[in-house]
Amino acid sequence: MDAISILAKKRDGLALSREEIRFFVRGCVDKSIPDYQAAAFLMAVRINGFTHDETLYLTLEMAHSGEMLDLSDIPGIKVDKHSTGGVGDKVSLILMPIAAAAGLKVAKMSGRGLGHTGGTLDKLEAIPGFQVSLPISAFKEQVRTTGISIISQSANLAPADKLFYALRDVTATVDSIPLISASIMSKKLAMGAQVLLLDVKCGSGALIQEIEGCRQLAKNMVEVGKAAGIQTIAAITDMNQPLGNAVGNALEVREALQVLRNGGPADLRKDVLALAAAMFCQAGLCATQEEATALAAQQLESGAAFAKFVDFVRAQGGDSDFAKLPEAGTQYAYRAAANGWITGFDATLVGKAAMVLGAGRLRMEDQIDPAAGLLLQRHIGDPVQAGDIVAVLHTNTQDKIAPACAMLDKAVRIGQSPLPPPPSIYEFIS
Ligand code: URA
Repeated sequence: MDAISILAKKRDGLALSREEIRFFVRGCVDKSIPDYQAAAFLMAVRINGFTHDETLYLTLEMAHSGEMLDLSDIPGIKVDKHSTGGVGDKVSLILMPIAAAAGLKVAKMSGRGLGHTGGTLDKLEAIPGFQVSLPISAFKEQVRTTGISIISQSANLAPADKLFYALRDVTATVDSIPLISASIMSKKLAMGAQVLLLDVKCGSGALIQEIEGCRQLAKNMVEVGKAAGIQTIAAITDMNQPLGNAVGNALEVREALQVLRNGGPADLRKDVLALAAAMFCQAGLCATQEEATALAAQQLESGAAFAKFVDFVRAQGGDSDFAKLPEAGTQYAYRAAANGWITGFDATLVGKAAMVLGAGRLRMEDQIDPAAGLLLQRHIGDPVQAGDIVAVLHTNTQDKIAPACAMLDKAVRIGQSPLPPPPSIYEFIS
């Protein structure tokens, strides 16, 4: 077996065997196959696609390219969640404490935000003192005792994904459904949870904007998860506008706290409860979505989810009375230019406006300002008058207000007739 014949086979659109995929992945990781052949492989997959079997083999090989966590010595049902990324997506901050309060064991590794999308680690790090980098032994102990831990990806988790992702980023091969599926699922398999909820974002702020592509990705990941023995369910959820009102790290933590304290924006609460319910059913905690929604709501109403979040933050060194969450020095009201109704957003541009204000990074090495971001005051379907506040911008860098407003001018669509708000969850795939 050699790399050139494997490349030729994929170039010609033929399916690769498990042995060929194993040979290729191992070779890329141990560097016996150079990056230029890895890049050619990724492009051949991007152009010619992968069968379900090939996607499964690639995922398994990528997962096994590094450490596979064994959580079997932790009593209880171990659960994990992944979002394909969005703007203002603070669901994990709320859903995971709800799950832990209901008795599930939350073992999650999260990522940082890049470009217009946010990342759970950046949000958690907005809480002064919060440590995202724990040794695996401490992570497991916290899952066992507190019932929830969320940490950054360890260096030895799915190293093949790190290599492939970096190459995909510079070879225009990010938008390949089998490659996205293998990238996400290899990391999830390596985490060792028994139940996995996938949140596939769909719309103008999402990695994949069309419902059909989202369906394909969701089905692909659910099939891979099930074939690997994980109870997997995917939700396709709306990302045509930010979820809730807050975009930006400390602002999103504040909004998550509102929901955890049994308040907060109704749409965000509803979304989180529906996703939690799907997770509860998948984990076998409840038989019906109604029963599961009630169980999730009970965790908010009783204060149990909030108490779990406090325990979790304290266990990871964070300031658990949340009094010192950073606040931006400048707030600026962005106002509607015309009368009418909000008919849509370019949610990617909303995310970019928050990024420009300091909330996000263009490159992984960039610094972010945890206080920066924006609070949306209007959503799709809402009426507006010229001069009404559409969003309040938060920043510590005053000269970023004008470029952020210019982005919002393009991002916010005001039409002359009302449009119903999009559903927040399109469908579940299990
Ligand atoms: N998130 C990942 O982890 N990998 C991808 O390929 C895309 C999104």
